[in-house]
Amino acid sequence: MLIWVPLQPIADALAGLEGAVVDVVVPGDGGLPASVGDVEFYVPEFFPRPAALTAMAQMARLKVVQTLTAGFDRVRPHVPDGALLCNARGVHDASTAEWVMTAVLASVHRFPYFAAEQAAGRWSYRFTGSLAGQTVLIVGYGSIGAAVERRLAGFEVQVLRVARSARAGVSPVDDLPELLPQADVVVLLAPVTKQTIGMADAGFLARMKDGALLVNAARGALVVTDDLVAELSSGRLYAAMDVTDPEPLPAGHPLWELTNVLITPHVGASTPASARAAQAFVRAQAQRYLSGEPLVNLVTGDY
Ligand SMILES: NC(=O)c1ccc[n+]([C@@H]2O[C@H](COP(=O)([O-])OP(=O)(O)OC[C@H]3O[C@@H](n4cnc5c(N)ncnc54)[C@H](OP(=O)(O)O)[C@@H]3O)[C@@H](O)[C@H]2O)c1
Repeated sequence: MLIWVPLQPIADALAGLEGAVVDVVVPGDGGLPASVGDVEFYVPEFFPRPAALTAMAQMARLKVVQTLTAGFDRVRPHVPDGALLCNARGVHDASTAEWVMTAVLASVHRFPYFAAEQAAGRWSYRFTGSLAGQTVLIVGYGSIGAAVERRLAGFEVQVLRVARSARAGVSPVDDLPELLPQADVVVLLAPVTKQTIGMADAGFLARMKDGALLVNAARGALVVTDDLVAELSSGRLYAAMDVTDPEPLPAGHPLWELTNVLITPHVGASTPASARAAQAFVRAQAQRYLSGEPLVNLVTGDY
């Protein structure tokens, strides 16, 4: 079986897999190796460029596309009929949950303000918020959402959980209108689907408490950016975003000018913890495929 992976450390992790030939290939502008027609198991790069996606059309023997990301919205449209798509659900739980914790604590303690004052050389005392005693609403209580809740234990918060479908302790998405006004912190961790695109619109944001914090660790498309800019510009809400729409956020965008928003450039899963977990996960998945066992993280239906 020919496996294409985008990075040498992933190839190294696959070393010794019986029956596997592993090549490090990142499809770019310069044409594809002749072996493209033999690729059976394909791992596109982390942030796939267009060439990494269109290459799949030439993989006549393709059986498995394994993303390195939990999100797969960009990859799915390019997966040919007959090939399975698997995501990296679970791989980025630790680092993305750490990002959420960092963003929440930094925001409520107003670190973006203090960082700007530090850069200006000013000792600017002010009263800040705190996490203790607050209510955190996790919208998209999946693998990362649960990892966030584990990390919130000890911070003296109440956690509310929302998912697509209700289960014990988890409310259905239809309950959001009643839950949003109860939350001091709203964390978005749902995937991009027809239902979630633009879910954080003017109506959603209007239901959030004055002074509440919106955290987007999922995808920029979940938030209607203009509606968020309007709420942030009035000073009513705070935001912390690892993902934006558009992404990258262009120079001169109004979000750059606001002091009540913390922005990082989609780095939630760009850590050694994620890299290590990805290497182990791809090896285990390839091993499952080679031995005829069922694959995990198969993307079916909506996601
Ligand atoms: N910032 C980053 O670098 C970074 C890193 C990793 C992942 N992500 C993003 O985070 C997302 C979540 O990852 P994950 O691994 O936690 O995925 P997951 O385990 O599949 O969890 C997704 C959760 O979202 C819920 N959901 C689906 N549609 C919803 C809706 N309309 N309203 C409310 N909740 C809804 C699901 O509900 P059910 O449980 O009922 O199905 C599930 O609980 C990914 O899709 C990806 O886009 C970002």
